[in-house]
Amino acid sequence: MGTYYVTTPIYYVNSKPHIGSAYTTILADTLARYHRLIGDDTLFLTGTDEHGVNIMRTAEKLGKHPKEFCDEVSAVFRKVFDTYNISYDRFIRTTDEDHEKVVQHVFKTMYEKGDIYKGEYRGFYCPKCETFYSPDELVDGKYCPIHGIEVEEVAEETYFFKWSKYQDALIKWYEEKKAIVPESRYNEIYTFVKNGLKDVSVTRITVPWGITVPIDPKHTVYVWFDALINYITGAGYPFDMDKFNKYWPHVRHILGKDILRHHAAMWPAMLMSLGIEPPHKLIVHGWWMMGGKKMSKSGGNIADPLELVKEVSQVAGISEPFAVDVIRYFVIIDGPQKDDKEFSMELLFKRYNSDLVNDYGNLIYRIVGFAKKKGISEVSPVFDGEYKDKLVDIFNDYFDRYRKAFDEDDSAEALRQASEFVKALNKYVDETKPWSAEPDVRDTIIYYVLDGIRLASLMLMPFIPTVATHVLELIGASEAGDWLDALQVGKLPRPVSIPVDMKPLFPRVDVNKYLKEIEKAEKKEEKKKEEKKVEENKVDIIEYDDFAKIDLRVGKIVEADKHPNADKLLLLKVDLGEGQPRTILAGIAAWYKPEELVGKEIIVVANLKPRKMRGIFSEGMLLAATDSSGKPVLLTPSEYVEPGAKVK
Ligand code: ME8
Ligand code: MG
Repeated sequence: MGTYYVTTPIYYVNSKPHIGSAYTTILADTLARYHRLIGDDTLFLTGTDEHGVNIMRTAEKLGKHPKEFCDEVSAVFRKVFDTYNISYDRFIRTTDEDHEKVVQHVFKTMYEKGDIYKGEYRGFYCPKCETFYSPDELVDGKYCPIHGIEVEEVAEETYFFKWSKYQDALIKWYEEKKAIVPESRYNEIYTFVKNGLKDVSVTRITVPWGITVPIDPKHTVYVWFDALINYITGAGYPFDMDKFNKYWPHVRHILGKDILRHHAAMWPAMLMSLGIEPPHKLIVHGWWMMGGKKMSKSGGNIADPLELVKEVSQVAGISEPFAVDVIRYFVIIDGPQKDDKEFSMELLFKRYNSDLVNDYGNLIYRIVGFAKKKGISEVSPVFDGEYKDKLVDIFNDYFDRYRKAFDEDDSAEALRQASEFVKALNKYVDETKPWSAEPDVRDTIIYYVLDGIRLASLMLMPFIPTVATHVLELIGASEAGDWLDALQVGKLPRPVSIPVDMKPLFPRVDVNKYLKEIEKAEKKEEKKKEEKKVEENKVDIIEYDDFAKIDLRVGKIVEADKHPNADKLLLLKVDLGEGQPRTILAGIAAWYKPEELVGKEIIVVANLKPRKMRGIFSEGMLLAATDSSGKPVLLTPSEYVEPGAKVK
């Protein structure tokens, strides 16, 4: 029995979960499930990253306290993960009390060791990635290389972590352990560190939404420093060292390539400073793309995991828990494990049809249907001989490769082996031809095919736990014994009863029809939008007499002030050639300063009934055209005209 510890990044709560964040978590879940099945003492940690300037600002915009905002979004992540059957042992939040204590402890330890020192930071910061950049890393000298937004210039007192001190130790660790996979990411980080490390700022004085620096309370801890520490908080450091020493350093960090540097260069250096061994392995995957761009909140191109479950369930005509498994299966087998992958419903349903409908579902339906047609209610193998041997041969090959893949933490490869095994079982049926066999042989074949289905379902357990459990129940093999022990040919309890009520597990989806329907729905939506636009721009026809009733005049603004009781209104005195200027109130305070209006000529509706606004009567209305940003642009005569002149 071994020990296994797996983590996901903790997700920023400024964006809701999408298939990208769900993917990493599902990937980690398959590893955790496998290791529990083989009897390893397993710890699986996921959660949310809740501090920092970006989250603070997002909450501010929504008029919420950051903690209230974090509570809400963190709960959404939890809901998605629970829906997706994620078997985490702890859902950690960086606002958890124990984590805050650990971060402060770590900060103090590193400070006392001399690895953290006070200085001043001058440079650039991208609030979206919460990362400092040097000028040469920026695009066109001012844009974030990841988000493309303009970075912010920062010059403030800060504490630095002596990152540079660990450059050589990092390189040595890379070379000795080769702990970063795949190789392309190893090379990327190796080159980055070889090129030299600069000490990194790890506190802010301008970001109150963070953990207080214990030695200097006007500072808060930099969000990445805070976040990375979650991986040791979750394992018990430093308050439960028995637990920590059990799980560390057997840790696998799963992450996307966007946060390679923080995990593969900064985090191990922090651990070295603490005298803790660096992680056992960093498993770095690529991105789900949509429309050729990384799926992200800021890109506006996200697939909502909860809606996806509903959609798959509806289109395929399966229950939501089954739909969850379909998505889990798809993202693992077709996901961006190494290269970026485009996400689409078309790919999802194609994979569904080929692997789950045609191979796995059909295998079960086919053999059970055949047995029922022959009037068989239960079977036992009559001779073990060649039919068993053949299954043993096939199974051993796939299962060996499956285990090897999992030994390398490669769940996508393990799933491919399970799925190939199902294909091989279909071939087994084709080749052994139970339909033309003598009853004894026929029953033997049926038994071994059902046994093969049992083995396949056990292999699929980490990936599609709900479906696999259902199938095992169906064939009377759900007894929860030792998983590894059960993974041997011939362990299906005998005799096995043939399920009576057997509908296809997975109905086929007509992908072309589905795509056409989507297209039709999109066109309809588009048309509706068009119609709405036309409607909005439509001009109502009126008679000339109606128009003639409106008395439009040129007016000259002689005084302008803010309205005493209303932020949005300006109070104008307008000369209409009547001797006394009129008082006119206009809702333009957000766009015009009072002083820039004085002397301007405008067009006024002069015969409008006076209207009281916030305690003051307005004796007319000025005309303005709204531009695309919503700004009311004042209409003004193209040449000077005497105030009071009629506009016709
Ligand atoms: O970076 N494709 O949080 P985050 C695949 N809080 N995976 C994706 C993805 C996509 N399009 N988009 C996101 C942070 N991910 C920090 C982490 S850890 C101490 C702190 C996944 O919410 C992927 O795993 O931006 C990526 O690394 C992670 O979500 C980033 O999540
Ligand atoms: Mg991100």
